[in-house]
Amino acid sequence: MRKKVIAGNWKMNKLAKEANQFVDEVLPKLPNSDQVEAIVCTPFPFLANLVDKAKGTKLQIAAQTMHYEKNGAFTGEVSPEMLADLGVTHVIIGHSERREYFNETDETVNKKTHAAHQYNLTPIVCVGETLEQREANETMNHVENQVTKALKSLTEQQIAQTIIAYEPIWAIGTGKTASSEQANEVCTHIRQVIEKITSSEIAEQVIVQYGGSVKPANIKELLAQSDIDGALVGGASLEADSFLQLVEAGAK
Ligand code: 13P
Repeated sequence: MRKKVIAGNWKMNKLAKEANQFVDEVLPKLPNSDQVEAIVCTPFPFLANLVDKAKGTKLQIAAQTMHYEKNGAFTGEVSPEMLADLGVTHVIIGHSERREYFNETDETVNKKTHAAHQYNLTPIVCVGETLEQREANETMNHVENQVTKALKSLTEQQIAQTIIAYEPIWAIGTGKTASSEQANEVCTHIRQVIEKITSSEIAEQVIVQYGGSVKPANIKELLAQSDIDGALVGGASLEADSFLQLVEAGAK
């Protein structure tokens, strides 16, 4: 049985005080269940402090992006080694906002996924189609292409430990959630693509999340689907109460 993995992606939100308050509020109320993992992906300035606060608890702290090089003359960038050294456990790679606004490509996504594994960070690799692609019936091909390129030359073991987040771009921050059947259809396809690259045994282990306007009101139905193992959540992860409800849904 795969666990459920609920990851909040704060994007570029909150100040240090608000980040601390969120964690203080969430920690004592997190469900004590092995069925669910709770992660918050925070802006870089909060990572060290929040990792410290969350040490020894069930909350894991993640980054929203990183560079693929270990170190060097890359002004403004943060390396995988820095994140691992802090105690960060996961890193989002290839979020559609990074692909759209910051020149993230399938090639850099692949390099970063390799780098994450090299430093024992679990990559959460984002894939998903635009509305135009969905309307042109290109969703399955597009997602297959993104997944295949992201996982290129990884070992089977590394693939088993990679999280894939299916986030249809038209559902992000729009209030439009893919129906649970639409979301599951693509998540099933992602698992089949992974099976093609590796084996059914590995594909069965991979956590595939859905993301795009997930909230307490729709999470249960999404998580009830055969191939949806969790959620990557933007807006509804910013309030402690709502984040806790999402994690609780994963614990059931
Ligand atoms: P929303 O949950 O705000 O739609 O954002 C989804 C997302 O992009 C998570 O990475």
